[in-house]
Amino acid sequence: HRERIRSVLGASQIMPVITIKHPDDAVPLCQALFEGGIRVMEITLRTEHGLRAIESVREALPEAWVGAGTVTCIAQYRQAEAAGAQFIVTPGVTKALLDFALTSEAALLPGVSTASELMLGYGLGYREFKFFPAEVAGGVPALKAFSGPFPDAAFCPTGGIRRDTARGYLDLNNVQTVGGSWLTPDDAVAAKDWAKITEIALGSLRDIS
Ligand code: 3PG
Repeated sequence: HRERIRSVLGASQIMPVITIKHPDDAVPLCQALFEGGIRVMEITLRTEHGLRAIESVREALPEAWVGAGTVTCIAQYRQAEAAGAQFIVTPGVTKALLDFALTSEAALLPGVSTASELMLGYGLGYREFKFFPAEVAGGVPALKAFSGPFPDAAFCPTGGIRRDTARGYLDLNNVQTVGGSWLTPDDAVAAKDWAKITEIALGSLRDIS
């Protein structure tokens, strides 16, 4: 379980948070990100197209890690796993979800924003977390503060992070990957400007290197 999440986080410094508005966009959009060097993608269940998108992107990009985001209950967890999601991202935690995830194949990256939520996950053996919503929950200083009481916890911050603020998070010892929707701006996706998506991915990876 932890090994899977560590492989996912180790595969990319940037994890795009992707919300599919038109089902036909899923594959070309993710292919464009892959061409731009992105190896990990989180496809949210915020639209009715999320599950089908996960299925088709898994098939089209067998070399990428494809996860489901915005999973908030066990029923969605099961559906995402059945669609082929290799990992699951939640915006927050419940004891029920944390327990369920330990018995499932798709590994969980649980969302936390407080020390209490961290303690809940920590007690069950979790050491990798999503820090959400990163910018409003304290940003870089909050993650620095967490490294005191939770020295072996690693975080993937998301929520309000942009191309020019990603580096500040990645400079922290407890951050290896940052997530965000800045890689898939609405206007470029609506215009099906896949070359632009590849360019943003390449530019973002260049900026943080
Ligand atoms: C998430 O679920 O991780 C966020 O919606 C991504 O946040 P952003 O849209 O502010 O990048």
